[in-house]
Amino acid sequence: MKLVIGGSTGFVGTELVRQALSHPAITSIVGLGRRETLVPPGSVGDGAKLKSVVCENFESYPDNVKKELENADACIWTIAVTPMKLKSLPWEETVKICRDYALAAIETLAGVPRKDGPFRFLYISGHFAPRTRSEIVKPLNDHGLTDLALLRGELETQILAFADQADGAVVSCIAKPGMIAGPGRDLPVVPGLPKIELRDIAAALLDQVVNGFEKDTLSNDDMIRIGQSALAKQ
Ligand SMILES: NC(=O)c1ccc[n+]([C@@H]2O[C@H](COP(=O)([O-])OP(=O)(O)OC[C@H]3O[C@@H](n4cnc5c(N)ncnc54)[C@H](OP(=O)(O)O)[C@@H]3O)[C@@H](O)[C@H]2O)c1
Repeated sequence: MKLVIGGSTGFVGTELVRQALSHPAITSIVGLGRRETLVPPGSVGDGAKLKSVVCENFESYPDNVKKELENADACIWTIAVTPMKLKSLPWEETVKICRDYALAAIETLAGVPRKDGPFRFLYISGHFAPRTRSEIVKPLNDHGLTDLALLRGELETQILAFADQADGAVVSCIAKPGMIAGPGRDLPVVPGLPKIELRDIAAALLDQVVNGFEKDTLSNDDMIRIGQSALAKQ
């Protein structure tokens, strides 16, 4: 299968590329980012499967980028403004990067020429992102993250609705991880926020785009279960 990884230079994106390179069912990877995607250090897979595609406009894709997206079977979208970087950007920029880029991605990928079968779009959101105001939890208010979380939660609904209206041409799935633990990362304790290992979430997301989504929303626990099971089979 041909897989597009949006944000392939980031923390999660790099691990997705690393694992995808050695995944036998993934024959071609488009690493889509605002800068070049390199083969991650320590990768044991086939580096020739990775095509780095630098995009200069994530709201309206240039034709040369659209061409690279043709015949893709799935996309995992990781591009977002994370809570750590929220204060460094104007709110309008955050909305553009988090919401507008993701919606342009699913629309563009659904619109480029491709073979038969549904296109799978997997969007990474966050554990606390509420789809309605009644789901807002205290830690979001405590950390000044309510607006960002609401934006992400509304986007979850929009991405699922896009697929619902696509007449079977697109299926979408929302991943809602807690904090992602990786080598050298000290994670703070936030009440009610679960954790997941980087290698587990990456394995889970790759499993789901390859084998199909088991449901439209994956919880942190779902991804630990799916990821550890997939890694155990390797
Ligand atoms: N890390 C966690 O603990 C955690 C927990 C829950 C959910 N998540 C979610 O998982 C996803 C990935 O997180 P992450 O930790 O991998 O984030 P990250 O390391 O900050 O990576 C984000 C990616 O988005 C790209 N990006 C950021 N701003 C951009 C812009 N203006 N234009 C184009 N690309 C841009 C980055 O490119 P550059 O490399 O060029 O900066 C990078 O490829 C996000 O949706 C995040 O909210 C993460």
